[in-house]
Amino acid sequence: MHDIGTSAAAAAKTDDVMSRKPSELPRSDRINIAGPWVTQLEMDFVADAMANWYDKPYHYCEAFERAFADYHRRRFALMTPNCTSAIHLLLAGLGVGPGDEVIVPECTWIASAAPISYAKAVPVFCDVERRSWCLDPASVKQAIGPRTRAIVAVDLYGNMPSMAQLLELAAEHGIPLVEDSAEALGSTLNGRRAGSFGVGSVFSFHRTKTLTTGEGGMLLVDDEALYDRCRKLRDHGRGPQTPMYFNDVLGFKYMPFNVQAALGYAQFLRIDELVGRKRELLNMYRERLADLEDVQLNPEPEGGVNGAWITAALFGARYGVTTRDVIERMAAKGIPIRPFFYPLSSLPAYQSGPPFRKVATPVAEDIATRGINLPAAFTVTEQQVDTVCDGLKAVLRGSHE
Ligand SMILES: Cc1ncc(COP(=O)(O)O)c(C=O)c1O
Repeated sequence: MHDIGTSAAAAAKTDDVMSRKPSELPRSDRINIAGPWVTQLEMDFVADAMANWYDKPYHYCEAFERAFADYHRRRFALMTPNCTSAIHLLLAGLGVGPGDEVIVPECTWIASAAPISYAKAVPVFCDVERRSWCLDPASVKQAIGPRTRAIVAVDLYGNMPSMAQLLELAAEHGIPLVEDSAEALGSTLNGRRAGSFGVGSVFSFHRTKTLTTGEGGMLLVDDEALYDRCRKLRDHGRGPQTPMYFNDVLGFKYMPFNVQAALGYAQFLRIDELVGRKRELLNMYRERLADLEDVQLNPEPEGGVNGAWITAALFGARYGVTTRDVIERMAAKGIPIRPFFYPLSSLPAYQSGPPFRKVATPVAEDIATRGINLPAAFTVTEQQVDTVCDGLKAVLRGSHE
């Protein structure tokens, strides 16, 4: 049985920061859609990284990687400049290249798919489940072909896919499954952390994410040979045994920076506080919107806990409004709302871009017209949640006061 993983304190092998009193939330009069919660701890760690530039050039990178891997019960971690490069690195490490196909959901941020095209492979867009908004195993089954080299399963908005079925399909066909957990820090499925599934997983520390380094990402893997390949590819093909400047493979420049890692490590030590606040926001929205019929917030099916990076809402067709209508009407009230992701294959980036293949994706197409993201910055107060919910109710019920 796979247990959940260590606590942040145990993973970091320190208790002192965890016993601090809770930090004060940042404040803003504006309702912000996304944004971080940075405290004195982060500032102290960053200052320390700057002060010890010569003595400990990778100290925080190594500490953050080790603790993050332990927390997710993974053997190895590699910090990267962002999550997009972590996906690219993992695909390269898996040997994905020209002529290969990689399965990816139609409904996700383009970063889940773009690295497939960087590798000169072909993304195959599949549908998502109505239940979870994540990759639909039935659609994947339809899409698997002789050239399929990997499956990218995305934990969209912290929701967990039907992982058991996806892993079974992957195993049956001998295809590695990659978990894009960029949006799922703090989510769990049947007691197992998001980011612990498949041959490897990736996280984003973009400035909008729950744990941020401004820009940043992490790649987690268990297989040592895969780790060695990815580590070498991360640094222009330089491994621990490579003679100075004698590169034997062509890699990338996806190295992390110690000052950013110091910020990330401090944020990681506060992970329970960060995820806890995001979940409070999700629960506030859930309570206040409970009386709206046919509005689904981040699904948390039996056995699933959502890390709640962002609160997403899918409203029923009965309301007779589209995502765009809601965004415009909420903007008129001064409330920022973001749309669900567009079906990727419909975007100009793919329509006039690199080759792709797709199967039917009716659910992804449907939910894109009825899905929104609600403000979830750490500055959002209970009062602001009230304002957002009152505004949304008025818009959906057709009263535009
Ligand atoms: C599902 C998903 N995958 C990948 C990424 C890429 O992350 P980054 O912006 O760190 O490259 C994101 C970022 O927002 C994302 O939401």
